[in-house]
Amino acid sequence: MTQRKILVTSALPYANGSIHLGHMVEHIQTDIWVRFQKMRGNQCFYVCADDTHGTPVMLAAQKMGVAPEEMIAKVREEHLADFTGFLIGYDNYYSTHSPENKAFSQGIYKALKANGKITVKTIEQLFDPEKQMFLPDRFVKGECPKCGAKDQYGDNCESCGTTYLPTELKNPYSAVSGATPVLKSSEHYFFDLSSCEDFLREWTNGESVLANGKKQAHLQPEALNKMKEWIDGGLQNWDISRDAPYFGFEIPDTENKYFYVWLDAPIGYFASFKNLCDRIGIDANEWLNPNSDAEMVHFIGKDILYFHALFWPATLKFSGYRTPTAVFAHGFLTVDGHKMSKSRGTFITAKSYLEQGLNPEWLRYYIAAKLNSKIEDIDLNLQDFISRVNSDLIGKYINIAARSAGFIKKRFSGSLKNVANHSLIANLQAKAEEIASFYEEREYARALREIMLLADTVNEYTDANKPWELAKQDGADEKLHEVCSVLINAFKVLSVYLSPILPATSLAVAEFLNIPALQWQNAQETLPENHIINEYKHLMKRVEQMQIDKLIEANKQSIAPAPAVAVENNAEPVAPICSFDDFTKVDMRVAEVLSCEKVEGSDKLLKFQVDLGFEQRTIFSGIAKSYPNPDELVGRKVIAVANFAPRKMAKFGVSEGMLLSASSGGKLFLLSVDSTAQNGSKVG
Ligand code: 2FM
Ligand code: ZN
Repeated sequence: MTQRKILVTSALPYANGSIHLGHMVEHIQTDIWVRFQKMRGNQCFYVCADDTHGTPVMLAAQKMGVAPEEMIAKVREEHLADFTGFLIGYDNYYSTHSPENKAFSQGIYKALKANGKITVKTIEQLFDPEKQMFLPDRFVKGECPKCGAKDQYGDNCESCGTTYLPTELKNPYSAVSGATPVLKSSEHYFFDLSSCEDFLREWTNGESVLANGKKQAHLQPEALNKMKEWIDGGLQNWDISRDAPYFGFEIPDTENKYFYVWLDAPIGYFASFKNLCDRIGIDANEWLNPNSDAEMVHFIGKDILYFHALFWPATLKFSGYRTPTAVFAHGFLTVDGHKMSKSRGTFITAKSYLEQGLNPEWLRYYIAAKLNSKIEDIDLNLQDFISRVNSDLIGKYINIAARSAGFIKKRFSGSLKNVANHSLIANLQAKAEEIASFYEEREYARALREIMLLADTVNEYTDANKPWELAKQDGADEKLHEVCSVLINAFKVLSVYLSPILPATSLAVAEFLNIPALQWQNAQETLPENHIINEYKHLMKRVEQMQIDKLIEANKQSIAPAPAVAVENNAEPVAPICSFDDFTKVDMRVAEVLSCEKVEGSDKLLKFQVDLGFEQRTIFSGIAKSYPNPDELVGRKVIAVANFAPRKMAKFGVSEGMLLSASSGGKLFLLSVDSTAQNGSKVG
């Protein structure tokens, strides 16, 4: 098999926050892929780092009264401890505040400039006169220009969702000092992204041919669509400079100008790799030059696609480096259906999970069981977590060894029979390439489904042969020996398949089986006649409800229903997360009101006759009090739910749907659409 060279990264966590389970989804996803590639014999390096620059880090350090360098060094240690606790096996976990990153960033900038990709423009921005600093959008607060909600950030309103410029806020104030910001102009350096359009259209649509001849699309289909939309919408030149005071790298040949954190962050991937290469004696340039045969893949969250699928490839292309082989984006993590929000403190920290004594491999297993190659959000449902870990991981997999090892040790001095060619084992082995391709494609959920189906066949074999009964029968020794040897070998094959997900268990299994660390090809080998295994020590415990209760307690805020946004405005609390699938179950259509009348005997109901395009229907709606003059509704295009079961409205008749309306202050407002919308058009 051709050995591939693969450089893999996870997004670099910011140095001013804790690692939470949202980060962990990404790093677990990446780590599984990397471990798989290494088990296949590929030369694969996994690098990451802390993303250390920018205003938030600078201000956080000031608040703590320490130098930013001191703060980021401490945070890096904490981050690395969290990730190590979850068995994330980086080859290097570095920092963007490093000499390598400075050299790469300045070199890349100079190359872009030499290629005519840097322009300078004077722009006006809000400035804090007290702090003597320009204010990033998130550091300006004020009243929403649309709805008037107070204390909104400078980029969008959390109350009504409007996006705007910080200069549009009413009564703005600096979130740093409280002072009223003033407009001030300064020179900014821009990366001329609009001139990269042809390249970006080609790159986003493109694919790479790997060393093994296979093709790899640069982007997932959903990401590609999004990029097309963005490129079609017109590429804006990218402001890559920030004025002092700023924690970052100075831009060469300028005064008091620094690289914007997002310029040097992805370059931090290169810096971390270079730092590793220099330590282990590899030529980094062989991997980073434009003609390199090495792959470079980035695992990221869907929120930072713009940076990785547009800015980053363009930066690399026009500074003379290789471009990424692929960018793999994933969705967000919800916990029991609720969004985790850093700003509201509603996240489960990695540290708290580990501190409760929860096994990191449980989470790795659970996350893997939910991950696929699409950009879909995944939910950590805590009850489902308990049951999947206990019934699948322990019940179906670990128990295979637990039920057979003791007999081998006690009755046969740890020695195995040769069971090569046994059909059960052969069936497990036959699936190796299919499971491998699921890992390769990041279809971990499918890989696990396949592995668990195989575990089912092993458990059926155990139940059919009942080793615990054979052990009591006279003259059944031979059979017992064979059955348990089959089970141990089956366990070994399954352990190979699960190794990328369960690295610690994989090592413990190798120790128990008395063999070297498992590689993918080991699935094809059975243990030889008379091979001696070691004593079985418990490989994994069950999750206890109490442990989950403690985790909930330690992260109370993250599990509580999302706090009502803008409670001060008496707004309705936002309902729990609804998936897109839930949403599409409701079939909403544009309907034209043909007639509308009061209902005798009811002061609430109005009776509508509506045209849905494909048919006319009678619909009752409880909005009479808000519309004393029903005639005025005739001709309006409204929204009707078309797939509710017909409902009997007491003595008044049957309602064949529902009309949507908004309620506020006890009054109801019928929803309508433009009068040119076709009757029967689907809403959604
Ligand atoms: O969004 C974030 O958390 C960034 N710190 C990710 C940076 S990824 C890479 F570009 F450095
Ligand atoms: Zn608003």
